[in-house]
Amino acid sequence: MTLPFEIITESAEQTEDAGASLAKLLLGDSSLPRFIAMYGDLGVGKTAFVRGFTRAIAPDASVKSPTFALVNEYGSKRSTIYHFDMYRITDEDDLYSTGFYDYISGNAFCIVEWSENIPYAIPDSYLRVNIEKNSLEDTDSRLLQISYETDSRK
Ligand SMILES: Nc1ncnc2c1ncn2[C@@H]1O[C@H](COP(=O)(O)OP(=O)(O)OP(=O)(O)O)[C@@H](O)[C@H]1O
Ligand SMILES: [Mg+2]
Repeated sequence: MTLPFEIITESAEQTEDAGASLAKLLLGDSSLPRFIAMYGDLGVGKTAFVRGFTRAIAPDASVKSPTFALVNEYGSKRSTIYHFDMYRITDEDDLYSTGFYDYISGNAFCIVEWSENIPYAIPDSYLRVNIEKNSLEDTDSRLLQISYETDSRK
């Protein structure tokens, strides 16, 4: 995988595979950000992407949506992944109480569903993953885009 990256996936498995490819890219290039902000509507495949991402780093972990827990942790000898779901986060006090700022200050991978809800908390340098439905007829088709965003003023 090279960035920016764009693919049309036709199944959850293909979206998982894109997540695994991103994880491999990050494992091989420590200069890339460890923060991955995901954007996309309900049920579009964000958790599927995280499942593939995690498979490449912590293959024994079982990825579940952290909608109620807000954050799940998956680990292996290799690395730690914090998987956030910001669906229920409505303000910065809420976010603060999840411990978010402590999690993102370390070396772990942080991958965030519903980043739309925390625009003020996205780091200057991050990887952006957009997923959207790609076709009205084909309900399994998704447009998936990954880009490296960096604040060029810094
Ligand atoms: N191309 C595809 N990529 C990903 N998921 C797909 C695709 N086609 C169909 N699906 C189905 O769409 C659903 C995606 O669910 P998933 O939980 O990953 O979405 P989500 O974006 O995390 O939702 P939420 O906003 O509720 O967290 C699954 O049922 C999956 O099988
Ligand atoms: Mg989800």
